[in-house]
Amino acid sequence: MHVHFREPGLTHKGDFATESRAALAGGITTVFDMPNTKPPTTTVQAFKEKLALAKKKCLCDFRLYMAVIVEENGADNLDEIEKVYKSKTLSKYLAGVKVYMAHSTGNLGPRHVVDGLAVNRYESLERILANKDLKNLPIVVHAEDPVCISQNISKFNPLKPVTWSKARPKDAAIIAVREACHLAKKYERALHIAHVSTLEEVLIVEKFRPLVTCEVSPHHLFFNTSMYGRFGKFLMVNPPVRAKSDVGNLWNAVYEGKIDVIATDHSPHTFDEKRKEMGMSGMPDVQTVLPMFLNEVSKGKFGLKDLVRMYCEKPAEIFGIADRGFVREGMKADL
Ligand code: DOR
Ligand code: ZN
Repeated sequence: MHVHFREPGLTHKGDFATESRAALAGGITTVFDMPNTKPPTTTVQAFKEKLALAKKKCLCDFRLYMAVIVEENGADNLDEIEKVYKSKTLSKYLAGVKVYMAHSTGNLGPRHVVDGLAVNRYESLERILANKDLKNLPIVVHAEDPVCISQNISKFNPLKPVTWSKARPKDAAIIAVREACHLAKKYERALHIAHVSTLEEVLIVEKFRPLVTCEVSPHHLFFNTSMYGRFGKFLMVNPPVRAKSDVGNLWNAVYEGKIDVIATDHSPHTFDEKRKEMGMSGMPDVQTVLPMFLNEVSKGKFGLKDLVRMYCEKPAEIFGIADRGFVREGMKADL
């Protein structure tokens, strides 16, 4: 539901062939690929080009996201998204749209100035929420607040990777999730929050159900800030890993069924990219996610049924995949 397979343009990190092989080795048969490639998937043309590559090289089933962007002159790309959405041949491959409330890898976060005016920093989210023509298209939000990050980013000291979690603090995520939820309510429009990393975000989402749903990524459950000493910059990811106590609280939310979906956020980089001064954020986990959670099941902490719900059923429901996600007559079992 949430992978970065890096093609086109970033294939030194991975491509549809290598990463889909990893997915299949890890027991994953359908992936939704994110739009922060080169070029980014923001136009019909870019979508078609990526689709051609994926059809040729991707060994598992896939869908592709498009990103919503608002340029500095105020122009957005909703018309491009609409063309893909309304095309019979293309729309079946469209997973949904991704909105970056803050910059992460790529340049898809908010512009500083739109139309000569200081930004409404949630402009791209608001435009897609307000759009009635795209109203059944899933919206996935990378929720970190750009202002909170800019106030804290100087805390990052490349010599101390642990400071990454201070540079993009949990408040950044909490503020953005709260804002996204209120906007969803304002427009009565469903949206899905990617990679929640704190219980606080989950509790906000809870108040806005069923309009808002959320996912958790393995790295926010299996890693914490005490591990930077061991893994250094290899632990850098956006949103960052949190303190041990936050991770414990997040697991409790999983046990209590408060999180809809497990999604990897598989983000490969090269060894050197991870180690360089600023270190690149993101880690690969599409091959390891299922064994990691099955291990938790074997410890009796987490039911197999819960895993199936979060890993197969809910993603199919939220993203409107009619023929997958359940082992039932008429469905593609992918067993
Ligand atoms: O750490 C991250 N890496 N977070 C993102 O949102 C993007 C991803 C990437 O593409 O590298
Ligand atoms: Zn991602």
